[in-house]
Amino acid sequence: MKGVLICGGLGTRLLPLTEVTNKSLLPVYDQPLIFYPLQTLLSAGIEEIMVITGPENIDQMTGFLGSGSKFNCKFTYRVQDEPKGIAQALGMAEEFSAGQDICALLGDNIYFDTISQHIRSFAGGGHIFVKEVQDPKRFGVVEVDGTKVVSIEEKPQQPRSNLAQTGCYLYDNRCFEFIRNLQPSDRGELEITDVTKWYMQNGKLGYTVLQDEWIDAGTFESLHKAAILVRERKMGQHKEQVQETAQAAAPQQQPMIGQ
Ligand code: G1P
Repeated sequence: MKGVLICGGLGTRLLPLTEVTNKSLLPVYDQPLIFYPLQTLLSAGIEEIMVITGPENIDQMTGFLGSGSKFNCKFTYRVQDEPKGIAQALGMAEEFSAGQDICALLGDNIYFDTISQHIRSFAGGGHIFVKEVQDPKRFGVVEVDGTKVVSIEEKPQQPRSNLAQTGCYLYDNRCFEFIRNLQPSDRGELEITDVTKWYMQNGKLGYTVLQDEWIDAGTFESLHKAAILVRERKMGQHKEQVQETAQAAAPQQQPMIGQ
């Protein structure tokens, strides 16, 4: 399986911060935002990762992440000239995918659940991660019935559920053929929701409901909340480690954020 980190878009909801740098390079407590989704891919054992970003920030991105050697992975970069959608960005990874399955991850999503095991056990078709949210209109909204996804709509006015499609998409290689023939939506973008919907209609779309926190850090509020949560978890881990050391007990390994 290959990884694709999608860091395109203008990040207009985070202006003027995104005039300085790409949203994915903004700080979340003690690390740049991109470290969290990157950690998710690395924890799943994915070593070949394509990073896709806009022309405004490609220099900073490559300068910062480099070849990947400091993360024990290998980065390939592509520029998305215009922000024409997540599916358009993913389509740019077709050659890179070399026929393999893909884990596409948005560069502004932070997972507090350990999702790497689900990524590792992906067995074809499509698989998404959904989370109960209070403001579903902001997201792709997923309706489920038992083990099946029965509908998925991008930012609906009248959401059929409060389950949001989050920014981690596992697809087999057929996604590229579908994207090649995909038409832009009313907002002029190739929608990732249409790709997921295709797997739903063609019989094999799995889903996992996230239990812990998940953050799309695309707004000031969510970026701030992400920093608070990361700090709390890190402080909690630190406190536990100090207590365990004091008790001379074998330290229990807590999953790192983003695994
Ligand atoms: C994108 C997707 C949406 C998904 C969200 C998760 O929205 O289009 O389906 O729920 O990511 O972060 P965007 O953040 O680009 O508005």
